[in-house]
Amino acid sequence: MSEFVPVADVSSLAPGEGRTVHVKGREFALYNVDGNFCAFDDQCPHKGGPLGAGMLDQGKIVCPLHGWAFDAETGQCDLRPDKVVKTYPTRVRDGQVEICI
Ligand code: FES
Repeated sequence: MSEFVPVADVSSLAPGEGRTVHVKGREFALYNVDGNFCAFDDQCPHKGGPLGAGMLDQGKIVCPLHGWAFDAETGQCDLRPDKVVKTYPTRVRDGQVEICI
């Protein structure tokens, strides 16, 4: 059963920033994309790089290890369209970003 779980203060992640958040024993990459929060599995489908430690570039999440880029909305990889990182719905409640896991 899916549920929304608070993971970060809204004010802690400015537009263009991202980081790894830990929820219920799992890790997710959370990014603020122009005021919209996007959540992904933290593990890059290439060789497991931490996507939360990457960067946001023109709507793409760029892995810090080898530079694969993933669409912030769909999770699809530019370089390898067959490689998709799982995305998760988010919402904001009471000043907290919540991820549906
Ligand atoms: S581990 Fe992410 S691009 Fe290689």
